[in-house]
Order: sequence, then C-alpha cells, then structure tokens
Amino acid sequence: MLPNALRPSATDHVPVLADEVRRLLDVQPGAAVVDATFGAGGHAELLALDLRGKGRFIAVDRDPSARAYFERFRKRAGVQARFLRGEFATVLEQLATNDVRVDAIMLDLGVSSMQLDRPERGFSYAVDAPLDMRMDPSSDETAADIVNDAPERELHEIFRRYGEERYARPIARAIVRRRRNEPFHRTGELVDTIKAAIPTPARFGEGHPAKRVFQALRIAVNDELGQLEEALPAAVELLRPRGRIAVISFHSLEDRIVKRFFRAEARGCVCPPDFPICACGRDPVLRVLTTRAVRPDAREVALNPRSASARLRVAEKV
Ligand SMILES: C[S@@+](CC[C@H](N)C(=O)[O-])C[C@H]1O[C@@H](n2cnc3c(N)ncnc32)[C@H](O)[C@@H]1O
Repeated sequence: MLPNALRPSATDHVPVLADEVRRLLDVQPGAAVVDATFGAGGHAELLALDLRGKGRFIAVDRDPSARAYFERFRKRAGVQARFLRGEFATVLEQLATNDVRVDAIMLDLGVSSMQLDRPERGFSYAVDAPLDMRMDPSSDETAADIVNDAPERELHEIFRRYGEERYARPIARAIVRRRRNEPFHRTGELVDTIKAAIPTPARFGEGHPAKRVFQALRIAVNDELGQLEEALPAAVELLRPRGRIAVISFHSLEDRIVKRFFRAEARGCVCPPDFPICACGRDPVLRVLTTRAVRPDAREVALNPRSASARLRVAEKV
C-alpha cells in the first residue's frame, strides 16, 4: 500500500487548458502518444480517451512519484502504456534515435500540484521545509547547494532572469552575507532572508515576497530552460508526418523558446536575411496551428488559479 503522501487522488493535479489541448492535438484511435510531462496523468487520461482503446501511450516524467499515478492510469487507459522515468530531453532523443515514431507529443512544463503541495519537496515558500526543489530527488544539485555555493553575481542573475525579481541584487547580497556565518538548509531561512533584504512596502506588495526567488531557483535547480531547448528538436524528430506537438508553458522565457523554435521550423530557410535567394534549401518542418498562444479563459482561471499564466502552442509536422 502506498503511503498517504503518494496515494493518488482525483484532485492531485487539474490539467490546464485540457479542452484546447485535446482539440488541437486531435489524437485519433490507433495513434501513438507521448506525454513527456506525465505528472499526475491529468492530460494523459483525456488523451487516452481519444485513443478509444486502440493505440500506444508512452508516459515520461523525471519524478519517481509520478509512477504511482501512472499505475492508476495504466489500469484505466485501455491501451498499451509504458512509463519511462527520466529527463524528457534525454528520453525523447533516445526514442527518436531508436526509430520510434509517434503521432502526438504533450509537454506541460513546470511543476505539478503534487510537487508544490508536498512541503517536504521544498518547492513552497509557504511552509518551512528542506530547501530542495529537485523534481528528480536523485539528481545532484538542490536549491540549498545553489544558495550556499553560487557566487553573488550568479545568484543575482538567476533571480533577475528567471524570477524577474526587482530586488535581485539586495537579495543576493543578503544571502551571501548570511551564509558566511551559517549555510541555508530550510525554505523558512531563505524566506526570512528575502523579507529582510527588501524594502518594507515590498513585503506587503503583490503576491508573496519570496515567490519570484523560489520560482527562479526551481528553474535553475531543474535546468528547465535547457531541458526545453534540447527537447524540442528531439520531439520534432520523433513525430511522424502530420504528427502534432503541444507545449504549455508558464513563464515568458519558456514561451519565447517555444515560439521561436516553432517559427524557425515553420520557416525552413536558415539563410542570412541579406541573401537574395535561398541557398540552404531547407524546407519547413512544422506548420504552426496556434498563431497566438492559447490562454485559459476567466472561468478556468477562477476554478484553477494556477492556470493563470499558462500559454499553449501547438504545431504539426509537415
Ligand atoms: C505541470 S506537471 C504535468 C501535469 C500533467 N500534465 C497532469 O495533467 O497531471 C509537469 C510534470 O513534468 C515533470 N517534468 C518537468 N520537467 C521535466 C523534465 N525536464 N523531464 C521529465 N519530466 C519533467 C514534472 O516532474 C511534473 O511531474
């Protein structure tokens, strides 16, 4: 029997933009589907319905706790399904290299509710817990390692770039000052340091004062942008012609990577703009199905506030 913390429940993760994903991925019976960010299987359950008992499903997640949700999913999916634990950049590349080809790929980036809501994982600034934030608990570097070891300049850059934190510099300075005497172990210690480093009015401004720093550290610990950059070309390789890829991002940096990648692959030609005619002969590889990113409507945001920053982009291999 699974311990309580691992027992999946219907409320573990509400799939974001679920109807739009289903409509745009347009999974047909008999198709092969990869959910590269399986999580609690919310999107997977819906996509599996469209297979109508025929087809194949590959679930990927770097978090071993997703396996318990996969077991629940496998029993209900009614199609052949397997779980591959690992980073999606590596797994998608390995599948493509092994000549696997699929019709639909789903990437729902970031952390799941099951990770955020388990205080012991250290993702939340709201509860005092070990300063961890690893999606894969066997990976090397924790948030505490970065906070205790990174030079002040690097901390500043992480908070500014990934968290768009206005007070990145004073926060980085305060962290370095504190760790000279005592290293950070707990989320609560970091929250206190952040609060003390920013001007008093900012402590009561929009959202929790530690929200942006926590987001930035999570992105750095899990190399979230690097994973996405590597995964997109592998995903396209893995798709059959007319196969589709859907990506939901929650951060403007992620969305920019997806938008630029889709646009470049849809253009084909990589010649410098001052070339009078195309010399590279590269054909378009993708057709973008979402000219603008699809956003959740007010009703979805009201029901699931975590969906507020979601942006969905979908493309088809030509
Ligand atoms: C937002 S959740 C997905 C939720 C899922 N769509 C659902 O409806 O239940 C993202 C999941 O992707 C996983 N993940 C994030 N980055 C990953 C990566 N680079 N490789 C593998 N899994 C990753 C996380 O561990 C998390 O479980």
